[in-house]
Amino acid sequence: MTNSEIEEVNGDIGNYRIKIKTRGNVIEGRLLRECEEACPVVVDDDGIKHKAIYYMPTYPDSYGIDFEACNKCGECVRICPEISLDESEKNIDVGAIVAATGLKDYDASLIKEYGYGRYDNVLTKLEFERKFANGLINPKSVAIVNCAGSRDENHLPYCSKVCCLLGLKEAKLIKDINPETEVYINYIDMRSYGPFEKFYNTVRENYGVKFIQGRPSEILQDDGILVVRSEDILLGKNIENRVECVVLMTGFIPDNELFRKLGLPDNGEFPVDYVNSSLSVDSNPRSIFVTGSAAFPCGVAETITNAKKSANEVIGVLGRDCVENKTPTAVINSDICSEIDCRICVTVCPYGAVYLKDDRVTINQELCMGCGICTATCAAGANQLQGCDDKGMLAQISGTVREGDILALLCKWSSYNAADKAAYERLTYPENVKIIKIPCTGRVDAQIILKAYSSGAKGVLIGGCPPDACHYCTGNFKARKRVIALRELINQFGIDPESLMIEWIGKDESKRFIDIVTKLDEEIS
Ligand code: FES
Repeated sequence: MTNSEIEEVNGDIGNYRIKIKTRGNVIEGRLLRECEEACPVVVDDDGIKHKAIYYMPTYPDSYGIDFEACNKCGECVRICPEISLDESEKNIDVGAIVAATGLKDYDASLIKEYGYGRYDNVLTKLEFERKFANGLINPKSVAIVNCAGSRDENHLPYCSKVCCLLGLKEAKLIKDINPETEVYINYIDMRSYGPFEKFYNTVRENYGVKFIQGRPSEILQDDGILVVRSEDILLGKNIENRVECVVLMTGFIPDNELFRKLGLPDNGEFPVDYVNSSLSVDSNPRSIFVTGSAAFPCGVAETITNAKKSANEVIGVLGRDCVENKTPTAVINSDICSEIDCRICVTVCPYGAVYLKDDRVTINQELCMGCGICTATCAAGANQLQGCDDKGMLAQISGTVREGDILALLCKWSSYNAADKAAYERLTYPENVKIIKIPCTGRVDAQIILKAYSSGAKGVLIGGCPPDACHYCTGNFKARKRVIALRELINQFGIDPESLMIEWIGKDESKRFIDIVTKLDEEIS
């Protein structure tokens, strides 16, 4: 459905109702070129100017209306009455959703030191390509700045994967059209993976593009010329590169507006955790599949592979008669919850299972995967994970831990299996190491840790899944943040902060588990 937008999504797996707003349409056929000429609205579309009704050379190619810009003057309708500018709404019922809406560019103006918006000739990749390919600009020297805002804690901490390749593409485009142009690429590392390594070699060796290893510290303007200041790591000195035009290869961010409507967790950054979780791929609790560059920037070939995978998974969901939920879930005591009313648990659920209904925190039992991350954030004790509630955890600790023990809280998906494997392999570890199985390290909260120490433990080990393998997206990272804060707290109580450890231990790492607990036991008096 073109010119359409999702307004609202209700329901869950197998049973969604989606409200869609459609803003007019353009009927194929007569007189559309005349409509374009008659349209009084001119739109600047990343460097290219077109009318509000315009020809889109896409596949299939057609005319479209930019409804963000259209003022509904009706000039086009007067020429071609088949055009509709009216809005309409309709509901559709579906069993699964595939979000394949691609990605968005990071806002280049936020990288203040590069002068985007201040200097006319500092352009984004899309602006440059459109202007250059259409002959609107023809600079004699160009600096392409890779990783603009990427791999940078102040902007995007991650690599957007495809920008290096886009930089190479722009360099080749410039050299193809005008071989005399001086082209420089500033890069940190050239991430031209797989077959693209050959493309990189071609651009470097056949096209004479100059590569400077070093992220520019700033871009200034001197007498109309842009000055790119950077370190050349290979030469070991600071350099100033004077060019007519700078192209910023900014990173990418997810289309979070859509995710909000779908009720998916979103922190504004890639990767979209919901799809990155191994558990959610195996048993997607909501049958919402985030595909292609909507999940993480990827090229065309990878997008097609992704799309095929999602289509298969959708067929799997729609082919089922029912969905069984065997996971113990979290429950809310509304009386206690409404007294504190902090609503923090709503923000931490990786599946959007904790939500507000009639202004009360509610848990969707079908969506809850039983990680306990929300339970750990509830200071009031109103949110409890069945089978692993506060009362049960505290009772287990006081029944297990004795003076001088090490308490090992081990994730059932990883480190607990490593400990189990150690026993199977007849590896030995100190007798004072007491093990409690937990659903995810994200379940561990302050009162569990403090209870362990007050019961006599001399040390606590939290063993979780490796960074990319938490079954509940980022439960392990949430646990690590909590441990950092708790170390400061226990220090104030006179407990050695080094006695509280969090380690990623894979399910096969029995030997490593033994080494970690043995060392902890030896080092903590
Ligand atoms: Fe193992 Fe989250 S599932 S740490």
